Amino acid sequence: MTVEQIRVGSEWLDLREPADAAARARDLVEQVRQRLPASGRLVIHDLACGSGSMGRWLAPLLPGSQLWVMHDRDPDLLEVAAANPPGPAAGGAHVVVETQLSDITRLSPDDLAGATLITASALLDLITGDQLARLVDLCAAVACPVLLTLSVIGGVTLAPADPLDRCLAAAFDAHQRRATAGGRLLGPDAVAAAAESFRRLGADVVIRPSPWRLGGDHADLAAEWLTGWLDAACEWQADLAAAVDAYARRRLAQARAGQLAVTVDHADVLVLP
Ligand SMILES: C[S@@+](CC[C@H](N)C(=O)[O-])C[C@H]1O[C@@H](n2cnc3c(N)ncnc32)[C@H](O)[C@@H]1O
Repeated sequence: MTVEQIRVGSEWLDLREPADAAARARDLVEQVRQRLPASGRLVIHDLACGSGSMGRWLAPLLPGSQLWVMHDRDPDLLEVAAANPPGPAAGGAHVVVETQLSDITRLSPDDLAGATLITASALLDLITGDQLARLVDLCAAVACPVLLTLSVIGGVTLAPADPLDRCLAAAFDAHQRRATAGGRLLGPDAVAAAAESFRRLGADVVIRPSPWRLGGDHADLAAEWLTGWLDAACEWQADLAAAVDAYARRRLAQARAGQLAVTVDHADVLVLP
């Protein structure tokens, strides 16, 4: 086993795509643009691309023709990514997508040879310290900018507040850091660990907040997120289950009525070698 083998459904990725797009830190794109070669086709490797939402967001913000090589270990998600390629680049140039069935923790620098940019989104918190170390070495060997977006960093705020919120959030964070057959997952510690590792190699690292802000317009996403959050908290701490039943009914009713505001903190990281 490499990363804990949880399959991510394309319905979940569809549901979160607009909130992800709104959350991603736009000013990092400007910094990426400044580092891109002045001519020639951009070659962008998106690691653990899922259904390809990073490309659909970023490709139209970058100038010039682009080849997106989308890597994932899930062939069904790769099929969705190939069927829904990004729109044209800023300025109208062509964007081409190639998919590759890959375990991104096993890629070698040769697999990414010629990359002008490496991206990953909603990935870092799912991997272990050893896997992060391999990823950092890989990126350092390729020596191009790396944009790592939407990693969970641990903060969750619900409004209106409830006395159980804090205890559930703590159980969720502990679940995110759980031990797996492949090692302990980084969970909310991933961004700090990645920044430290890249800086140790001499890279510049820029970190920006990229929180989800879910209100009445995102009632379905808030309800789905809440269900997953509570399942994870109860899986970690089984004695929460009794109290969580009534909490879940209350919160889901609020979410479906558009009366629940949820902020889920994430961070985006740009690494400039
Ligand atoms: C939370 S999803 C994020 C998908 C996409 N980047 C996005 O932002 O919508 C995590 C993705 O990582 C992929 N994944 C996890 N571990 C992987 C590995 N070791 N190799 C390749 N893909 C992996 C999963 O299949 C899934 O598509």
